[in-house]
Amino acid sequence: MEREIKEKIKYLLYPESVAVIGASRNPKKIGFQVVYNLIKDGYKGRIYPINPNADEILGLKCYPNILDVPGEVDLAMIVVPASKVLDVLRDSIEKGVKAVAIITSGFSEIGNKELEDAIVDMCRKNKIPLLGPNIVGVLNTDHNMNLSFCPNLPFKGRITFITQSGALAIGLIGWTWASRIGISKLVSIGNMAMLGFEELIEYLEEDMDTDAILLYMEGVKNGRLFAEVSRNVSRKKPIIAIKAGKSERGAKAAASHTGSLAGNVMLYETAFKYAGVVSADGLEDGFDKALALSLQPPLKGDNIVVVTNGGGAGVLSSDYAETFGIPLRDIPVDLMDTVKNLIPPFGSPKNPIDLTGNAYRDDYIRVLDAVLRHPWVDGVVSIYVHAAITDPVEIADGIAYVWKNYREKPITVCMIGGREVLVANTWLRDNGIPVYPTPKRAMAAMAALREYGRFLERYGNEG
Ligand code: COA
Repeated sequence: MEREIKEKIKYLLYPESVAVIGASRNPKKIGFQVVYNLIKDGYKGRIYPINPNADEILGLKCYPNILDVPGEVDLAMIVVPASKVLDVLRDSIEKGVKAVAIITSGFSEIGNKELEDAIVDMCRKNKIPLLGPNIVGVLNTDHNMNLSFCPNLPFKGRITFITQSGALAIGLIGWTWASRIGISKLVSIGNMAMLGFEELIEYLEEDMDTDAILLYMEGVKNGRLFAEVSRNVSRKKPIIAIKAGKSERGAKAAASHTGSLAGNVMLYETAFKYAGVVSADGLEDGFDKALALSLQPPLKGDNIVVVTNGGGAGVLSSDYAETFGIPLRDIPVDLMDTVKNLIPPFGSPKNPIDLTGNAYRDDYIRVLDAVLRHPWVDGVVSIYVHAAITDPVEIADGIAYVWKNYREKPITVCMIGGREVLVANTWLRDNGIPVYPTPKRAMAAMAALREYGRFLERYGNEG
């Protein structure tokens, strides 16, 4: 990517001023919603609505043309019909905007490639990064910027989500709040006429607010470039990919959705492996893994220990550990002896360690401390099955209390229960501990930490 274009991507993600071209007076239109969302969600930069037919929108002075705006404009967000895009883009460039995003649909995804090529040409010649067309917008929780027609900002955190599907982005925002999955930026890339995964991933390498990068991907523009860029960036921060369009029918749907070539599944999987990209099986798995990788350190070895208060959950987690390529091993004899003295005689000091249904906060603390302290142990999956005699929030508090002394070793938690465990889950996630409702998901998250750890061991220090 040209250096000048790369440097200007910051104006897409952190603009200090935005012109909304096609800002509408009608609350039912996207051009109204974009201005409304910027104001409602607390964007602190300057907002310039552009509409030749209006004097004022939502209390803001409206300009007939971007050329009439008195100050500088960092970003032009275009929301006029496709037939008008070239004209307003030309004016934006004349105004000297530093970046352009286009929500408008009706380009290559419906065969209108000529128009799309024309806008790309214009931006490239003027060294301006172009996001879209056919996007839902850009959201940045660190700057309260909802520059989109998504109803609200996602839950704040350190994952940047790049998505080829805008509608998915809209739907998943509610999910991030319900599940406490923290998002830094949500970037809809639509047709990827100029900027695609390759360019944004490269930019995010240095982004201070991003700890993990999550992709919803139908296809990439340039497989080789994607693999090289991702391999470089993966050394610094984890990338997780949800690849869609794996079936024949799905690939056809992708072609008409964003004009993407979904490509050969095996080729993608090979590229992901080469690049250290953690592959996810759908949305749930993608967010689960991104959560773990954004909050926890990579797993540096294969020695994980399961600590549970429920025997069945322990058995299931042993099965999934094997399925996901990190089979449980016998723990060292000295650790087993220590644990034996900390649990009831009817518990099990082996791996999984069964604390039994009698386990309270202090029991979790004592055993987790002994386990995490031991040099043989690389990581822990801690399971709690809700029982009438125990308070899940107390257990969660105990787990977090211990883990804060061993932050270099990853932990994932499984809390099995209904409404009783919701507060504990929120509390754990707010304290940097990924928590899941089933042993399978907690173990899959730990396996993702191992997969990333293995990549770093092999290539982390490569020049
Ligand atoms: N400059 C600025 N504003 C202009 C303009 C110009 N040259 N010409 C017209 N406008 C104004 C219009 O007057 C209108 O404002 P008003 O409602 O106050 O009169 C506003 O811009 C919007 O124009 P309009 O013609 O009403 O378009 P629209 O709102 O019906 O549709 C899009 C515009 C972009 C939303 C539509 O073409 C589109 O592409 N929709 C799909 C978007 C999408 O789904 N994206 C992908 C998401 S995943």
